[in-house]
Amino acid sequence: MRPSFLSQVGYTTSTLDARKLTRIIEGASSGIGLETVKALATASADFHILLGSQSAEKGQKTLNDIQTALGDSIKGGISALQIDVCDQNSIKAAKDQIEAQFGKLDVLINNAGIIVYEQVDTLTSLRKTFETNVFGQLIVTETMEPLLQKSAKSYVIYVSSEQGSISERLNPEYEYRQIRGDHYRMSKAALNMLSACHRYNYADWGCRVLAFNPGWCVSNLTGEKGREMRIKLGARDPKDPAMALVDVVLGKRDADIEKPAMVDLDGGLVPW
Ligand SMILES: NC(=O)c1ccc[n+]([C@@H]2O[C@H](COP(=O)([O-])OP(=O)(O)OC[C@H]3O[C@@H](n4cnc5c(N)ncnc54)[C@H](OP(=O)(O)O)[C@@H]3O)[C@@H](O)[C@H]2O)c1
Repeated sequence: MRPSFLSQVGYTTSTLDARKLTRIIEGASSGIGLETVKALATASADFHILLGSQSAEKGQKTLNDIQTALGDSIKGGISALQIDVCDQNSIKAAKDQIEAQFGKLDVLINNAGIIVYEQVDTLTSLRKTFETNVFGQLIVTETMEPLLQKSAKSYVIYVSSEQGSISERLNPEYEYRQIRGDHYRMSKAALNMLSACHRYNYADWGCRVLAFNPGWCVSNLTGEKGREMRIKLGARDPKDPAMALVDVVLGKRDADIEKPAMVDLDGGLVPW
């Protein structure tokens, strides 16, 4: 019988099984994560997508909205999974649920991320930013590690940012040089190092680990006003990085993943 903890679309109980390739995407209730769930769900019947959301209610609503919007074009399956990357109990519970239902995890997309744009003191901003963008990602990956080890071909993808490139920060020609965002930049630089450490640590069991640059996109990252500003200034559709992430999990970017740099959505690499 199907366990009740995951709400699902796209599968009947009989077709939901551990032979499917299981992908979890945290922070999937909006922006790049949401579009990635949709892109993967319509890409292959072999995928079962776990739509990670820090709020169970929001995850369920997102799942219902996807079903309404995509209907029969969903080829694989999607389940909502509550996971707050800043809450170790929720991460452990998510791991236990995946283990009970699937026994393994093939792809982990560490997508959850924030920019602190409210007026708070510097230390509060740094702590909040790093807790979500770095500490949470490390704990999620290391908690899921035993499940990833059971996959025949596993990927850990960190959704980073070119804002975290130390080389570009000091490049006088760099397009986004004028943007400050020091705390966010520092967190993504640390995330890049985390991806390098995990690439090294997991090499002996063949896990492919990468930091991914999704480009500047329309999303909720800087709130409603930020969203409007992004649209006005021509930020990209989050479907673009979503399609690039589908290519990554289909193995089309494996050669780039070997290299010491961020994998860019448009092909090629962005320097650390
Ligand atoms: N958009 C860009 O231009 C851009 C550029 C470079 C990199 N990125 C990166 O892309 C990733 C996705 O961002 P986005 O642009 O799509 O922004 P978004 O629309 O704000 O999506 C971020 C997602 O992260 C989730 N999240 C935040 N804190 C979380 C937590 N503690 N646990 C679980 N989920 C949490 C949010 O959930 P709630 O809605 O429930 O808070 C939301 O679903 C981030 O890592 C961001 O840094 C974005």
